[in-house]
Amino acid sequence: MSAGVLVDGITKSYEHRGSRVVVLQDVNLVVEPGEFVCIAGPSGCGKTTLLHIVAGLESPDEGEVYVGGKPVTGPSLERPMVFQQGALFPWMTNLANVEYGLKMRGDPPEERRRVALEALDRLGLAGHQDKYPHQISGGQRQRVALARALVLEPQVLLCDEPFTALDSLTRRRLMEDMYQLWEANRMTVLWVEHNLHLPALLADRVYVLASHPGRVMDEVVVDLPRPRSPNDPAVMRVGEWLTAWAEALARIDQGQRVTLPPPPDGAILRESLH
Ligand SMILES: Nc1ncnc2c1ncn2[C@@H]1O[C@H](COP(=O)(O)OP(=O)(O)OP(=O)(O)O)[C@@H](O)[C@H]1O
Ligand SMILES: [Mg+2]
Repeated sequence: MSAGVLVDGITKSYEHRGSRVVVLQDVNLVVEPGEFVCIAGPSGCGKTTLLHIVAGLESPDEGEVYVGGKPVTGPSLERPMVFQQGALFPWMTNLANVEYGLKMRGDPPEERRRVALEALDRLGLAGHQDKYPHQISGGQRQRVALARALVLEPQVLLCDEPFTALDSLTRRRLMEDMYQLWEANRMTVLWVEHNLHLPALLADRVYVLASHPGRVMDEVVVDLPRPRSPNDPAVMRVGEWLTAWAEALARIDQGQRVTLPPPPDGAILRESLH
């Protein structure tokens, strides 16, 4: 069952060569149940750290994360994460990889096999179930990683740029497939992404972070009607604007004087903190 996410005043620092480096400073964000929300921002601004905190893989210095109203205290199969590079178990077949979480959860063998095969089929991997991850392509591995998370019907799906390492054609195909999957299921998704064409197609909202320390700079509502198509000029315009906008914000944050491009139809600036 989909659940909402509340990130409430998260601060996180690390010790580096004897001094404390603040990575995230008072980060607040909300994901409504069934909403697709992206987090964008320059490399090193703390996106992965933030996702790890929501996943319960790391704990914050201050603040709290709530999923479905309950505080996050550790990792859970209700909050699976899809990593940039699949992180599949190389010694397991693709089918066993997808079944893994279901097995951990204690689902009966026949049921989990049926569910896993169905998910592999839905992600275009029928016939690849008995192969090992090294016997399929990078794009197919990311599909297996996605299937492994989706079979759990999680409260919230956490994605850390799962398509970034792929070539542009494969990335585009996976993006479109993800779009179809999300439209069919409307699950809660928190997705970290560099490529800002992805949220134009998929997201309801985007938080743009700044670095040193990582903090929320802006929130953009992607107000494009659904169903959306990647070839729709309005979707492309929002993708191009989001890219230019995030770049301009990063430069302003570095002290440069830059004129921010005005949002096109389909993008609404909700908060301007700069
Ligand atoms: N375990 C750790 N110990 C010390 N510093 C860390 C640790 N994890 C992350 N950092 C630092 O925190 C900062 C944010 O890292 P993070 O991986 O969250 O950034 P990111 O926004 O995901 O970057 P990218 O877009 O390149 O993936 C970096 O400066 C990184 O060096
Ligand atoms: Mg990262």
